[in-house]
Amino acid sequence: MKAIVITGVAGLLGSRMAKWILENKPSYQVIGIDNLSGGYEDHIDNRVIFYKADLATDDLNRIFSSHEVEFVYHFAAYAAEGLSPFIRKYNYTNNIVATANVVNACITHQIKRLVFTSSMAVYGAGEPPFSENDLPKPIDPYGIAKYACEMDLHVAGEQHGLDWCIIRPHNVYGVNQNIWDRYRNVLGIWIYQKLNNQSLTIYGDGSQKRAFSYIDDCLFPLWNASVKPAASKQIINLGSKKEYSILEAAMLLKEVVGGANIEFLEMRHEVHAAYSTHEKSEEILGYQDKTDLSSGLTAMWNWAQLQPRRNQFVWPKYELERGLYKFWK
Ligand SMILES: NC(=O)c1ccc[n+]([C@@H]2O[C@H](COP(=O)([O-])OP(=O)(O)OC[C@H]3O[C@@H](n4cnc5c(N)ncnc54)[C@H](O)[C@@H]3O)[C@@H](O)[C@H]2O)c1
Repeated sequence: MKAIVITGVAGLLGSRMAKWILENKPSYQVIGIDNLSGGYEDHIDNRVIFYKADLATDDLNRIFSSHEVEFVYHFAAYAAEGLSPFIRKYNYTNNIVATANVVNACITHQIKRLVFTSSMAVYGAGEPPFSENDLPKPIDPYGIAKYACEMDLHVAGEQHGLDWCIIRPHNVYGVNQNIWDRYRNVLGIWIYQKLNNQSLTIYGDGSQKRAFSYIDDCLFPLWNASVKPAASKQIINLGSKKEYSILEAAMLLKEVVGGANIEFLEMRHEVHAAYSTHEKSEEILGYQDKTDLSSGLTAMWNWAQLQPRRNQFVWPKYELERGLYKFWK
């Protein structure tokens, strides 16, 4: 049976894409890989053939040679952008070294196409809305790692004939998101805070701008990224067309959850306004901005209230303490 490998299958994009394929493309087997460092096994559909493995260190050939792999979605990463300067080595290991291992396996096993989720973080200090034609100027190790992986894919395509599609998603949220990580995904952090009777925290004054993309709207486009001829060797932004200030998003969530306090913290080193163009994703991937932030947050909040009360993940020791913000000490 033809198979699709999904790395990061216990995470938001991985677990939801796996389920989408199982339901919409039943002629494929879904093979999932994850080390469960940032995702949860109970988010993986039980029809997925799951391998608990670390992409940075484990041999992937035993997995790839056991199945008839056609496409690979490489979603696994540690996407804590603001934290990445304080865990550089971990960031580069999980984002670059892990990707190198996946690229080797894809070349060796001659798969049809590798879909890699890069990030809007590659644009860094660029001018929004970020276009796929802009020259990346990442401002943190996470963005640098993603850009390095993108460049590696270009070379693997030229030298080894690997077909790829690079997706640059922005602020994807929704059901199955890790809401127990202190360092990433503002909406998930706020939902955890509300569930634990804490104030919703904002770094700086909340005037930063972001566009929030609902996971369900991204799944069909991600499928097209693997099968559409026009998506071959393309870099494509993916996500919502409407941007909000962080304060506006917090106010909206406050309405959805029935009230909350907002607390302003020290500013972080981050891009002030970050949102992207969407024309290419509409044209090539059939992206449609169907779910507004209020509806998406309502669905996520309803789901979050039914989740187990897990402890929030806190790094036991950072690689670097110098320059660390007070709120993470
Ligand atoms: N969610 C977003 O807003 C967003 C935005 C831009 C880009 N992306 C990218 O999309 C991809 C998926 O994001 P997500 O939100 O689903 O993240 P996620 O954290 O929910 O899932 C990532 C999964 O990868 C796994 N993983 C991490 N390191 C691994 C390793 N070394 N070996 C095996 N598994 C490993 C984690 O356990 C986790 O289950 C990532 O590459 C991320 O950088 C996400």
